[in-house]
Amino acid sequence: MSDFFQHVNKPAETDCDSLVLAVAQGEDGPHLLPCSLSTEMSQELASLLPLLGMSGKVDEVCVSTAPSRLATRTLTFVGLGKHNFGDAQAVRRAAGCVTRTSKAKTLAFDWAITDEGVWQALAEGAGFGAYRYDRYFSKKADRIESVLLPDSEAARKGAKTAEVLVSAANLTRDLVNTPANDLCPADFVEIAKRECEGLPIEIEVWDFARLQEEKCGGLVGVGQGSSRPPYLVKLSYQPQGAKRHAALIGKGITFDSGGISLKPAANMEAMKSDMTGAATVLGATIAAARLEVPQQITTYLALAENLPGGKAQRPSDVITIRNGKTVEILNTDAEGRLVMADALSLACEIKPDVILDVATLTGAQIVALGNRTTGLMGQGGAPEEVFKAAERVGEPAWVMPIPEELKEANASKFADVANSGGRNAGMMVAADFLSNFVDDFPWAHLDIAGPSYNSGKPWGFSAYGGTGVMVRTLVDYLANLK
Ligand code: BES
Ligand code: MN
Ligand code: ZN
Repeated sequence: MSDFFQHVNKPAETDCDSLVLAVAQGEDGPHLLPCSLSTEMSQELASLLPLLGMSGKVDEVCVSTAPSRLATRTLTFVGLGKHNFGDAQAVRRAAGCVTRTSKAKTLAFDWAITDEGVWQALAEGAGFGAYRYDRYFSKKADRIESVLLPDSEAARKGAKTAEVLVSAANLTRDLVNTPANDLCPADFVEIAKRECEGLPIEIEVWDFARLQEEKCGGLVGVGQGSSRPPYLVKLSYQPQGAKRHAALIGKGITFDSGGISLKPAANMEAMKSDMTGAATVLGATIAAARLEVPQQITTYLALAENLPGGKAQRPSDVITIRNGKTVEILNTDAEGRLVMADALSLACEIKPDVILDVATLTGAQIVALGNRTTGLMGQGGAPEEVFKAAERVGEPAWVMPIPEELKEANASKFADVANSGGRNAGMMVAADFLSNFVDDFPWAHLDIAGPSYNSGKPWGFSAYGGTGVMVRTLVDYLANLK
């Protein structure tokens, strides 16, 4: 990814496959937004827009041959909706829509942007959109080789930051898209080790025996049904002069069949993505280290495969979580909260300033907020701060409550709590369950069941499959942690 963005003096006058032009949706029709082409040429191209069927609406892309006096072979027009270059979100999405759909190998953006943050957004979008997951195709996808940007300081700095965020989030997406036959907990551990190599991140791994010794009953209980054992990974990033200490926790169920409480067959294939939380906090930790974010970060990956093998846990089993609380298993498909409970308990032991957890925890998240909006819950002001970070980077999220009366839903007749509390407010019931394992620390829980994986049609910079959502939000949150 390192030479994906190339800076040249005049992208619009540089030989390339396609020059990208932005079109806004005006009251009176499409408007060509400013670029470095001459006024005369811009006017000529602007007059073509209606003929090309361009209205300028969001996610609209149109490719045409270029006039022979230009250095580019084709022109790619993209809609920004009712926005202009002042809107970083619109720029990110439009750039991503172009690279997601383009057949070009080299693309040039010569948009009249001066702000570093907007160049960063453009480069983020371009990087996310250029992602292709072709590991299992015999014929590999055509890839965009380079994106030409101006060589202004704002464009250079913006693209440099974006490159780090994009490669981290695209690692997250690779992990999410990899099927469970090639990604079991042990494979995940190896990838985490490999990706942290050469970075100031220390890594510690607990295997099955160690998890039993350390009384991590959630990871043991969930993982024991698979012949491929569970692991806990601890990553430590401790820069000199760190201001604050954040603990990140990720749900890493490499496949969620439901266990003995087996899921229905329809759409079960999407459950290879049930490790997205772990992949997200891994990506965020790597990006934070590469960007030299001045905070101490301790990250826990709770890795297990949820299968109904001969040693699998059963409904009615009672397990003991790391912090000593007992849990009655009512539904083995509510496994995420069990592995998270161990990791949250461990995070409390290191007394961080804040705990953030990321999990594809409940189908109820999708019922409540849909496929694009992350559910934020927690205590001590942390969800509100994560919300602000999500707004800054343009990732939809919403703060939801954990109402007191939901305690009843998690009550058990045989243990301290039960792991499943009925259908109503399922997302918040799961968050209430987790609240048993975070003491009084400021805590934000991010339920990304829907936003983690695009199983609908591609849009903006998001292809089918893993989206890499919340990596940028977490890094922004950490960078601004006070
Ligand atoms: N991994 C699922 C949640 C999920 C569902 C993520 C759909 C992404 C898309 C989780 O482990 C699960 O199965 N949750 C159950 C909980 C229930 C048994 C209390 C659910 O949401 O149905
Ligand atoms: Mn489940
Ligand atoms: Zn799950």
